[in-house]
Amino acid sequence: MDEILTQTQITGDAELDASLRPRHLSEFVGQERIKEQLSLVLDGARGRGEVADHLLFSGPPGLGKTSLAGIVAAELGADLRATSGPALERPGDLAAILTNVEAGDVLFVDEIHRLPRQVEEVLYPAMEDFRLDIVVGKGPGARALQLPLPMFTLVGATTRTGLMTSPLRERFGFAARLEYYSEADLGAVLERSARILGVTLRPDGAARVAGRARGTPRVANRLLRRVRDYAQVRADGLVTGDIAAAALALFDVDERGLDTLDRSVLQALCRSGGPVGLSTLAIAVGEEADTVEDVVEPFLIKEGLLARTARGRVATPAAFAHLGLHRAGPGGGADPRLFGG
Ligand SMILES: Nc1ncnc2c1ncn2[C@@H]1O[C@H](COP(=O)(O)OP(=O)(O)OP(=O)(O)O)[C@@H](O)[C@H]1O
Ligand SMILES: [Mg+2]
Repeated sequence: MDEILTQTQITGDAELDASLRPRHLSEFVGQERIKEQLSLVLDGARGRGEVADHLLFSGPPGLGKTSLAGIVAAELGADLRATSGPALERPGDLAAILTNVEAGDVLFVDEIHRLPRQVEEVLYPAMEDFRLDIVVGKGPGARALQLPLPMFTLVGATTRTGLMTSPLRERFGFAARLEYYSEADLGAVLERSARILGVTLRPDGAARVAGRARGTPRVANRLLRRVRDYAQVRADGLVTGDIAAAALALFDVDERGLDTLDRSVLQALCRSGGPVGLSTLAIAVGEEADTVEDVVEPFLIKEGLLARTARGRVATPAAFAHLGLHRAGPGGGADPRLFGG
């Protein structure tokens, strides 16, 4: 959805994203069980004067994993150092970061499932024994070195625990999977954001946006900004239910919160008449396979609009109904006009 925005809007939105990020556990809306577990883990460590266990946050994009990493550091009064799986290309990249870590620091590794295997192997002893094993030099003169590291807390985030190796997963003392937010929780996220942004958001306006935010705080905040633009330009600035509905319609967000890409995916599946592989589906909608798998699919599956089968992705009857399409006859054969029979 973002590519239609201008560069200034993107910069503006990125700044707003940072200002809307919750800084403390008390500001983090919803996910009550995870918050309770996490505060226990953090309080326990703090009470003992120890470094907290390594923590892993997983779940679809925009549900608050990066926010939680910052919150962990803030709650522990620790410094946060952030990097990401793809940024750590070689073992030396990770070694450079680890040798700069200070006692009690929080090291955040985003997209940890994308760590190259040799880099991951450097992380194992660092996590388990706070030790850096490196090989210096090449060929016959190469030497293995072991350096002790200060104790630190690793916080990993991933959209896909399934892609993590089990040795890595097992080295986390606490793992939490974030779930999609309820409309009530999204309403609370929106109220908080509206307060920070100075938007006058009526409860019916908040409910309307919350109902179309794909269960995702980041989406709720993004929609709030578009609704705010609409209210300011086309009305008196007050965000009512009607204003929100009109704004969301203008930005192609439908009653279920599906955006253009979500609908393209469902349309492609409905028209194929049978299971479709991920890469074919991605090509059909002109998106990266990763985006389809990480961003689009989890929500459509949760909504009961898409199902994964051994042979590929299929649209459910609810998807046909939502798009106002008729299913092909028994067996659901492909529309021959679209797929050449
Ligand atoms: N529980 C929450 N309460 C309030 N705001 C939230 C919450 N979770 C997320 N947000 C808002 O959503 C935005 C996106 O959250 P965040 O960047 O933490 O998601 P993420 O899980 O790291 O996403 P990605 O997988 O794309 O990195 C934040 O900037 C914040 O404004
Ligand atoms: Mg993140």
